[in-house]
Parts: sequence; C-alpha cells; structure tokens
Amino acid sequence: MCGIVGFIGAEEAAPILLDGLARLEYRGYDSAGLAVYSPEDGLKVVKAKGRLRVLSDIVEGGKSIRGAVGLGHTRWATHGEPSDVNAHPHVGMSGRVAVVHNGIIENFAQIKEFLESKGVRFVSQTDTEVVAQLLEYYYRGDIMEAVTKVLHRIEGAYALGILCADCPDQLIAARKDSPLILGCGDGFSFLASDVTAFLKYTREVCYLEDGEIAVLTREGIQVYSHPYLQPVEKERHHVDWEVSAAEKGGYEHFMAKEIMEQPKAFRDTVFPRIQNGRVALEELRLSASYLREIDKIYIIACGSSYHVGMVAKYILEKLLRKPVEVTLASEFRYCDPLVTHRTLCLVISQSGETIDTLAALREAKRLGGRILSIVNVVGSSIARESDDVLYTWAGPEIAVATTKAYSTQLAVIYLIALRFAELLDTIGAVEYAALVEELLTLPSKMERVLENREAIQYYASIYFNHESIFFIGRNIDYAIGLEGSLKLKEISYIHSEAYAAGELKHGTISLIQPGTLVVALASCVPLFDKLVSNVVEVKSRGADVLGLTVESRGEIFQKTVDHVITVPDTHPMLLPSLDVIPMQLFAYYVALMRGCDIDKPRNLAKSVTVE
Ligand code: G6P
Repeated sequence: MCGIVGFIGAEEAAPILLDGLARLEYRGYDSAGLAVYSPEDGLKVVKAKGRLRVLSDIVEGGKSIRGAVGLGHTRWATHGEPSDVNAHPHVGMSGRVAVVHNGIIENFAQIKEFLESKGVRFVSQTDTEVVAQLLEYYYRGDIMEAVTKVLHRIEGAYALGILCADCPDQLIAARKDSPLILGCGDGFSFLASDVTAFLKYTREVCYLEDGEIAVLTREGIQVYSHPYLQPVEKERHHVDWEVSAAEKGGYEHFMAKEIMEQPKAFRDTVFPRIQNGRVALEELRLSASYLREIDKIYIIACGSSYHVGMVAKYILEKLLRKPVEVTLASEFRYCDPLVTHRTLCLVISQSGETIDTLAALREAKRLGGRILSIVNVVGSSIARESDDVLYTWAGPEIAVATTKAYSTQLAVIYLIALRFAELLDTIGAVEYAALVEELLTLPSKMERVLENREAIQYYASIYFNHESIFFIGRNIDYAIGLEGSLKLKEISYIHSEAYAAGELKHGTISLIQPGTLVVALASCVPLFDKLVSNVVEVKSRGADVLGLTVESRGEIFQKTVDHVITVPDTHPMLLPSLDVIPMQLFAYYVALMRGCDIDKPRNLAKSVTVE
C-alpha cells in the first residue's frame, strides 16, 4: 500500500526521493508525487497518476525540482479515484504545509465538514487532505503545536510525513498503526515506509512507535511522545540486509529471483537452528510445562501466510496432538474468538505490518493469549508486539506475490513442530531424527525441483490461455493447492479455485467441461489412490489434467493425467516445501506468457496496511 519516503540532507532531494519510491514500488500504487523545498523556489509539489516513470519524466529525473529536503509518495487509492489531484503530497490552502500519508483517517468527513464551515476549500476527495488543511488551520507559527493538535483530532491509522515551508530545516513524522521507519545518517535523515527505500544510504534505523512524533534534521532525529512532547530516547538498530538483495540481479522479475533464492532462504532459516541433530530455538522462552498447559493453538494470518497456517494445522496436530484452529486475521478480529491464557496464538506475517493481522494480535493479547509470531521483517510492528518472535531469514522480498517468504515460514513451522513435539514428548526418537535429517536435505531437493523449470514453462505454454483453472488435492496437498491457486490468480488474472478433492462432487464438478484445466496434487502417498479416483472423475468429463506427485509415483500417475510434474520423495510432512515450487513456477510462466506485470499485479499491494 502507499509508500512514503522523506529526506533531509545536503544533496538534492528529488532524485533521492524518486529512487526511494522506485524501491517501494512493490507495495502497489496508482499515482505518485513529490514535495520539495528550496529557499529560491519555496515549496514545490508535483504529482502524477500512473507509474513512477510518468512523475520522473515530468521532473526530469528530479533535476527540475530543486531543494535538499522533501517528501515522496506512491498512492494506493482508498478515498477518491487514482488521479493527479488525489495523489499525495497534499497541501493546505495556503500552500505552506505538505503532507504524505499511509493509512485511513476514519473521521475525515466530520473534520472536512468542520473545516469547510470555516471557509476551507478542498481540492481532492482524499481523507489525507484534511490532515494538511487541519495543520494549516491550527498553525500559528509553531508547527509542533499544530501537529499535536491534529493528532489529537484525527482517528484511524496513519504514518505521516510533514514538511512545513516556514521551518524547512526539518521534517516531521508521526505514526499510529501504519509502518514508518527512520534512517539515521551522517548529515542526513530519512523517513520511509520500509527500510529498502534508503538502505543504499544508511543501515542505521530507529523504529517509530505508535503515538510518537519524530523531528528529522540534517544533524539527527529527535523523537517525542504525544501529546506532551516529552523527549524519548530511541534505540538504534543496524539492518543487515544487503542492498543487492533488494535488486533484480539479472533476473527479468523479482518474483523469478525470489523463487530461485528459496533453497538459500530455507538454509539460512533452518541450518543455524539445528545443532547436533536437534532443533535449537534459543529465541523462544516457551517451557515444556507451559506447552502442556495450553489447550489450543490458534493460527492467525492473511493471504499466503494463512496458507502456511493451513499446512501447519496438519503438521502441528499430527505431531503435538493438540487442537489447532487456523483463522483469517480479518475474521478473527470480529468473531469473538475463544482465546484464553491457555491459548497459544501463532501469528504469521512476512511484512509484520499487515493491519488485520496486527489488530488480531492485539485482540488475542487482550484476551490473554500468548503470542508467538513468525515474521520476516525485523523490528516490524508484529515482531515488536509479540511475546516471542521467530524470524524467517528470507531477506527482503519485493515481488507482491510471495514465494521465498512463504517457504521460510513453512521452514519455521517444521522447526516449531519438532521442538514442541520434543518438549511435549509426543515424538519418538527415530521419527525425530529422521525428520531432522530430511530437513537438512530439503534445500538440495528444492534445487532439483528448480532445475526442472523448463518442463513447467512448457506446460505453462500449453495452458496459459485457459480462463478458469481448478486445483484439487487432499490433506497437505489441498493446502498447497490453495497457495498454487492464489499465486496463479494474483499474477495471471486467471480465475482459479482450489478444492479439497473429496469435495468435488459437492459443487465444483458441475463446472468441469471439455478442456477445463485441473491441476491435481497427489504427492500425499497414503491418499494417492483416492486422488487418482478424483482425477478419473474429472477426466471422464473432458478435463485436461496437469498432475503433481513424488518421483516414486510419477510413472503410475502419468497413466491417468495428461502431463505430470514430479518432485523428489521426502518425509510427507515436508512435502509442501517441494510441491509449492512447481506451483509458483507455473503461475510465473503463465503470467509471463500472458504479458502481465508480474511484480506489480493490478490492484494488489505487498503490504496491506489498511483494513
Ligand atoms: C498481501 C501480499 C501477500 C501476503 C499477504 C499477507 O496480500 O500480497 O503475498 O501473503 O498480504 O501479508 P503478510 O506480510 O502479513 O504475510
């Protein structure tokens, strides 16, 4: 969703802001804008609907808009259509204050009505413009005073960047429930939605908390609490991510690069946590007695992270013999959930900023649940607010459609399952050792699946023109089908559904007709024959079937389906890590052949920070 970047330093701001915005493009947006101040030209704002390239051309790559302090924004429309006028930054009526915003001001209509009654004229349909107008309304020469009054008045979620022409030696930042990170440099400072926006310039960061206000100058950053403006001492953190990790490195798309990075990401996440044949999760403070006490595990997540939760349910219930409930965070928030102090809530999120997941976490905590999160972005809101965090070491993920983060989330699920089973004594020594050993071979098996990508590209070339594709599977295969189907629709815009194969006869089979493509997942060996029966049913109604199974069943499956993709055999619980790769590659190649904007699919955002 909206991307924010702000810079104050000695260099020209506009090219730096444009570069930062380019690195935030993955968040999803429909228009972009800049506000830059110079003593000669004052506060200049340029905005344009469409891709960042349009804005960049207007300002000649930043050369035509001068000044060493400014704000940039990529907008993902909520209030008001994508247009030049609705793009950020927004300025007040006198053109003195520029504001960029990510989030939603929920009471904007009342504030707008109030300001209009005072003679303020609005030019956009956005909720954000009320912040700029209200700032100017309250401004009597002290911008911090005006900011605190505005924050007192507005409701909702926000990350705000503010530039006032009367005090151009500073930028102001404030946040509530939307991500904002501060970059500390030598002679310069940054604010941004995500560290990738300024990683090229500094890796020293501070995390702004809800209810804090930051003043950024060339000399440094001072943070204050709201509303009394008490100075807050902030801890600085060093970010380890390499700049190159957030670049394409020769690949046509970030998604292709991230698919190929999965064996490494898996290794980075798992190998350091296996010591002398045992899973060692030193970050965790959960004891055996606590685990024995819990009567339920609640998994809370959105999107692909939710699909990891679907796989996790099968694994955790099997190994721990405890009930596991998986729920969408957006549903959890409003379903009066049954959480007590005996509930362990497993919160899964790549970004650590998904608003529904964050809100669900807070609700679970309020009800007495203990929060263990699996997060990729270090220092993100979900990580900070959890009781325990297990990081996935996937590195920055840029493509909107997640791949390597999904794989590392799965990896952490395996680790949790093994460690908890050991603590609860629900796993035998032989099975434990076999699982650990197999876990260590998975990255090389993932590499073998990736080597087979040309075959998958060929199948994609056969089927890319289909307008409706069904995924069927049983047990863990069903959970992988859900992810395969989501990947496909996200980036290729083909209608697709995943069905538990046993449910076919209760609905979906009526949609199968000659030429319909069914992707049949049959890697779950104990259920192989059942799945074959389902394939026969759809074949006899004319479906084309692309099958996926393990190498040991490849030949036999080939007799029933039109084409078969195989993955190496492994422990059944670990199969998702191999099965998901052909699903990702299939979606990728289909989207490529359809000419889709793979890294930035229409209407989607990487980090969903509004409800
Ligand atoms: C968006 C992304 C998905 C992601 C989901 C949850 O929809 O496009 O790839 O799975 O958000 O995000 P999270 O960061 O919480 O895992």
